[in-house]
Amino acid sequence: SQLEKGGYPHFMLKEIFEQPNSIYDCIRGRIVNNGTEIKLSGITDHPDRFINASRIIIVACGTSWHAALIGARLFESIARIPAQVEYASEFRYSNPIVTPQDIVIAISQSGETADTLAAIKLAKERGAFVYGVCNVVSSSIARETDTGTYIHVGPEIGVASTKAFTGQVTVLTMLALAIGQLRCTISKEKLTEMAHALINLPELIKETLKLNKNIERLSSIFTYAHNFLYLGRGYNYPSALEGALKLKEISYIHAEGYPAAEMKHGPIALIDREMPTVVIAPTDELHEKIISNIQQVKARGGSVIAIVTRGDETIPEIADHTLEIPPVPECLSPIIVSIPLQLLAYHIAVMKGCNVDMPRNLAKSVTVE
Ligand code: G6P
Repeated sequence: SQLEKGGYPHFMLKEIFEQPNSIYDCIRGRIVNNGTEIKLSGITDHPDRFINASRIIIVACGTSWHAALIGARLFESIARIPAQVEYASEFRYSNPIVTPQDIVIAISQSGETADTLAAIKLAKERGAFVYGVCNVVSSSIARETDTGTYIHVGPEIGVASTKAFTGQVTVLTMLALAIGQLRCTISKEKLTEMAHALINLPELIKETLKLNKNIERLSSIFTYAHNFLYLGRGYNYPSALEGALKLKEISYIHAEGYPAAEMKHGPIALIDREMPTVVIAPTDELHEKIISNIQQVKARGGSVIAIVTRGDETIPEIADHTLEIPPVPECLSPIIVSIPLQLLAYHIAVMKGCNVDMPRNLAKSVTVE
């Protein structure tokens, strides 16, 4: 009903705008000692498991699988544990090598996805320590795992996941920091810096949401498109996958996410006036490289919507449309970047007259195979 939507036309928009609060709730009580320590009981209750872990395997489906890709990168760079990501549906039938030194992390908003549940049952049988990252309290996956961390973002009604995704990435960041703290793979200074950046997230999200009007205007230009390409690198390669998924789920426009440098191995052949490219290009170490990707798209007549860090002077000159986000540490940028990506998909879908909260053929949680 209208009341439940809190004055918003759709649950999806309400949930997008809830993110300053949902991320605040997700972090609350977990950054302690004046922002110098991360406290997650799932980790502090089982220190030996994490100190002796030889590998982390993350299993998930859909949007949660995209969060997993970001998580694996965080675990490797911050906690220095080899990490791999598997589709739960593939993992369960692959006779996977799983040992008691492995930690299997299951990410699931609903906690009810059949493939993810089956994957963790198998992992447990093979002796792994199984950790859950769920939203729904006491869901099947939350109960089946040895321990875990709830994302605590509140109920998500819109079928296309928004606030659960940013909550998942936030929890995975805190997990990586907590394990890094335990294994001494991160310095006190770096940990404190990251903890403060996390505390700042709600404010940065609020600021980023101000792009809404701009994005609404921009969206009207792109309702004609039949195909979209999304490009990103590093931590934002999964953002490109997730941005593309959001658009196809609710607007029925075909969209593909690619690591920017892979464009030359295929998707570049598709670029023409009819195919817009969304380039996720916050300022980072590989900024020069992504600028040249934008030039390659432009040289083939494609139009570019670029997401850049405020202060970028180069990309606004060459891209057709630029969306500015506030500066944020690279590994947290997927959280901020997802705001304009969610809004772009939302507005294009609304303008096309699609049912954004209940897209055709999709279910909020897939409890059958
Ligand atoms: C369905 C939903 C997606 C979700 C996926 C995994 O496909 O439509 O939004 O990402 O399931 O769901 P889970 O609850 O396990 O995160």
